[in-house]
Amino acid sequence: MARRKVVNLFSIVMLCITIVQGRKTINTSNEFSASSLDNNDDGICKSMVETQGYTCEEHKATTSDGFILSIQRLPAGQSGKKANKPPVLIHHGLFCDGVSWLLNSPNESLPFILADSGFDVWLVSGRGSKYSSHSSLTPKDLGYWDWSWDELASNDLPASMQYVYDHTSQKIHYVGHSQGSLIAFVAFSQGKLLNITRSAALLSPIAHMSHITSKATKLAAEILLADYIRWLGIHVFLPTSGPGSDLLNLICVRLNLDCVNLLSIFTGPNCCLNTSRVQYYLEHVPQPTSTKNLIHFSQMIRRGTIAMYDYGIFNWVHYGQLLPPDYDFSKIPNDLPLFLGIGKLDMLSDEEDVNDLLNFEFKNHDADKLMKVVLENYAHADFILGVKAKQDVYDPMIDFFNAH
Ligand SMILES: *[C@@H]1O[C@H](CO)[C@@H](O)[C@H](O)[C@H]1NC(C)=O
Ligand SMILES: *[C@@H]1O[C@H](CO)[C@@H](O)[C@H](O)[C@H]1NC(C)=O
Ligand SMILES: *[C@@H]1O[C@H](CO)[C@@H](O)[C@H](O)[C@H]1NC(C)=O
Ligand SMILES: *[C@@H]1O[C@H](CO)[C@@H](O)[C@H](O)[C@H]1NC(C)=O
Repeated sequence: MARRKVVNLFSIVMLCITIVQGRKTINTSNEFSASSLDNNDDGICKSMVETQGYTCEEHKATTSDGFILSIQRLPAGQSGKKANKPPVLIHHGLFCDGVSWLLNSPNESLPFILADSGFDVWLVSGRGSKYSSHSSLTPKDLGYWDWSWDELASNDLPASMQYVYDHTSQKIHYVGHSQGSLIAFVAFSQGKLLNITRSAALLSPIAHMSHITSKATKLAAEILLADYIRWLGIHVFLPTSGPGSDLLNLICVRLNLDCVNLLSIFTGPNCCLNTSRVQYYLEHVPQPTSTKNLIHFSQMIRRGTIAMYDYGIFNWVHYGQLLPPDYDFSKIPNDLPLFLGIGKLDMLSDEEDVNDLLNFEFKNHDADKLMKVVLENYAHADFILGVKAKQDVYDPMIDFFNAH
């Protein structure tokens, strides 16, 4: 039974998607290994996009610290009609990659829907995920995992946005889910990328994390911080195997949770997932992340700060000051067109934290540049995998893009 629980446990701190029922056995020999990241299949275009009848181009953008990000471009709709609207860059959240947006049928999946609406679609997979790599490091090297969302904001996002701009010479509409929203807030608040951004749609927006309602997420943050030196020694965190799954099992036992439905325990009760596709989702998620990244999230959750990674006594070395520098999202320009997709049952991007963002940082945002779509019954994963997301979220988002 314990094993069975472990299998169902990989949704910790899932700022992205987690599908937890359905898998029957855990592969105990499947300890994380570098080989599980080997990019030895045909790539996302061949396996996930062309199979649905869409044209697809494989691209690669290199970050300033040498990571090679995998990017797919859908330059036309299913009919073959070439895009006649601006580029859209889509960025996934934690434990996910570009594939996470392609797991439902084309009429339900955001990249296909955007391509069919005439947009030039670019889908990125961040560092650490299966289809991305590094110019000199391999996943076996410690340096490959020495980053948190600070680097996603300062390196990955600029690299992929600039790449798309260089290939299209057009300002970009950005879509970010969860961690993908956080890194955009960081960049925009520092005045970066604004001159190549047309608008941004942030789904399950993550800024403040002090009111997270999931007890399991809070406990995970506590455990990671209490023993962070040991956890940092683990470098890579994959919720399905090794220390990652042990941690999830521990949380489950300690909170006496019914871990068969951990999806709702961590992310909230998703209203609209297609339960008959769970097995299929499990073949693609989760992707690994760095342990350092999870510790950074834990710092936010426990301390209520929005700040750079806290190195403790080594902050002097990294930042020349005692505490890590804060990010100030009130510096995001008031006239930047922002679309927010908010789920009232989202336990990671929870209502109170989102309200803090709206009432404080975005207090003075131009009313006609800030559109909120609030969904009473949505939780975290519904924004990418919900079978009704097209009508609930993507159609209004497309109207917003068309208006900006
Ligand atoms: C378990 O994982 C190992 C290593 O990744 C793989 O070689 C083996 O085929 C897997 N076994 C099952 C039953 O999936
Ligand atoms: C999409 O297509 C599937 C079958 O291909 C159908 O079951 C579903 O209702 C459709 N969804 C929408 C939003 O049109
Ligand atoms: C955008 O601004 C940056 C400096 O912040 C500059 O280096 C870059 O050339 C600008 N890009 C465009 C397209 O204007
Ligand atoms: C749910 O997934 C099943 C299996 O892939 C598919 O046949 C069905 O059309 C999907 N339902 C919806 C509403 O998309």
